[in-house]
Amino acid sequence: MNLKLTGKTALITGSTSGIGFETAKILLEEGAVVYLNGRKKSSVNEAVAKLKVLYPQAEINGFIVDFKNPEELNQQLQSIEKIDILINNVGIYTSKSFFETSADEWQQQFEVNVMSGVALAKYFLPGMLQRNWGRILFISSECAYLVPTDMISYSATKAMLHAISRGLAQLTKSTEVTVNTVVPGSTLTEGAALFLEEKAKAQQQDLKRTEHSFFESDRPHSLLQRFASVREVGQTIVYLCSPLSSATNGSVIKIDGGSSGGIL
Ligand SMILES: NC(=O)c1ccc[n+]([C@@H]2O[C@H](COP(=O)([O-])OP(=O)(O)OC[C@H]3O[C@@H](n4cnc5c(N)ncnc54)[C@H](OP(=O)(O)O)[C@@H]3O)[C@@H](O)[C@H]2O)c1
Repeated sequence: MNLKLTGKTALITGSTSGIGFETAKILLEEGAVVYLNGRKKSSVNEAVAKLKVLYPQAEINGFIVDFKNPEELNQQLQSIEKIDILINNVGIYTSKSFFETSADEWQQQFEVNVMSGVALAKYFLPGMLQRNWGRILFISSECAYLVPTDMISYSATKAMLHAISRGLAQLTKSTEVTVNTVVPGSTLTEGAALFLEEKAKAQQQDLKRTEHSFFESDRPHSLLQRFASVREVGQTIVYLCSPLSSATNGSVIKIDGGSSGGIL
């Protein structure tokens, strides 16, 4: 299927690895121009170089910003002229007791997970409305629904994205711009693979058994009962970035294998 993305320019935050990196690959396969983001020059240059080997004809740029520091973002914003597709993907978390999560940790997750997308949407949405085409996606998490007790701060930031996304969609009424929220479930990124390997080692089990027991105990409502691949998640994200998804606006689209349960 031709997703009609040739010539569109996309910025994906937190995209030197994981879901963001895979999404960048698929966008490049579809002919889009991509801006990759990470905190450090070295990791961004490395990720750009990897993609240039895979897609030598493609236009791939770096956007080096640490969203923990809003000043850095303000300084770098002017370096991008036009964005058609904004994927607010960056997300950090702490896994610890509510009582041990510090105010600084709450604040950092709020800056990175919420304010990065707020600032970028504030900057790029007016141009999208003026040109009468654009896509903004907020990458949430199954944790917005599950709220694991060791991830209350992270889950709260993800839940906020749903309201921001719906509110911004309301600003796009009668235009060809859309704003949606995507909800991934447990996804086999480099970080998740490491988590599984360490758990398997500690429990002296093989990886398959460890994955199975994680879903049994921690994600009992999952219908998939396995980690989704980054490609499975990226493909849905890229479809939602494309002109083909034009009737989906102000929506929440789950790619969580059913883990959040229920019908909403
Ligand atoms: N993986 C899952 O199972 C899962 C499940 C549900 C939802 N999600 C959500 O999906 C999104 C992507 O998750 P992921 O697991 O693919 O992410 P990840 O692998 O943890 O993300 C790593 C990326 O984030 C960048 N990054 C981290 N902190 C940053 C900061 N302060 N400023 C700028 N960039 C920063 C890293 O860049 P450098 O290291 O190069 O600086 C790297 O590109 C997140 O919003 C996450 O909450 C993930």
